[in-house]
Amino acid sequence: MRFSRGWGLHPCHSFLLRCNVKIKETLLQQQEITERVNSLGQQLTKDYAGKKPVVIGILNGAFIFLADLVRAMDMAVEVDFIRVASYGQATESSGTITLSKAPERDLNGKDILLVEDIVDSGTTMVWLQKYFTTEHQPSSVKTCTLINKSQRRAVDVNIDYIGFEIEKGFLVGYGLDCAETYRNLPEICALEE
Ligand code: IMP
Ligand code: MG
Repeated sequence: MRFSRGWGLHPCHSFLLRCNVKIKETLLQQQEITERVNSLGQQLTKDYAGKKPVVIGILNGAFIFLADLVRAMDMAVEVDFIRVASYGQATESSGTITLSKAPERDLNGKDILLVEDIVDSGTTMVWLQKYFTTEHQPSSVKTCTLINKSQRRAVDVNIDYIGFEIEKGFLVGYGLDCAETYRNLPEICALEE
């Protein structure tokens, strides 16, 4: 692994957080992620049969998961992205969410599948569900997250598709970052506390 050959201690210089944190352990290997994403793709192919869902990735974290997930869906899909700011550079949610990039497709009457990297407090997903149902007129809105991290859940949130349940820890890799670093690790790792 690249980081074990020298990425173990990675200083991320930022005013808010220096992500000067070591990788503690690998929680999900590449193969395990691939198998789970493929099985989610098969499930979605069945559940959306006869429809053409708009798969909306929540930037930046979901970009790798979405890329693999849509290729595991054996059907026509549309792809779009939304970006909200909630975390900044810190590892704790600020609680304030702002829209920084709106989706560009016409979502009127469409079946939306929201794709997230990780649901933690749940605040972002609840905000997004409300945004899509009040600002657009979709036919349906479903949610899919690669990781459901339930320990710090602060609000009730409905998630239709979950890749993995991981109770706690700060995770990086496969799209997940610490102060914008580590997104390109092919596996998912926990940082030291
Ligand atoms: P929530 O609003 O607290 O559910 O936070 C959701 C967002 O926080 C996710 O989309 C991630 O960008 C970020 N996040 C939460 N936990 C982690 C983590 O363990 N690693 C990296 N990002 C995280
Ligand atoms: Mg995210």
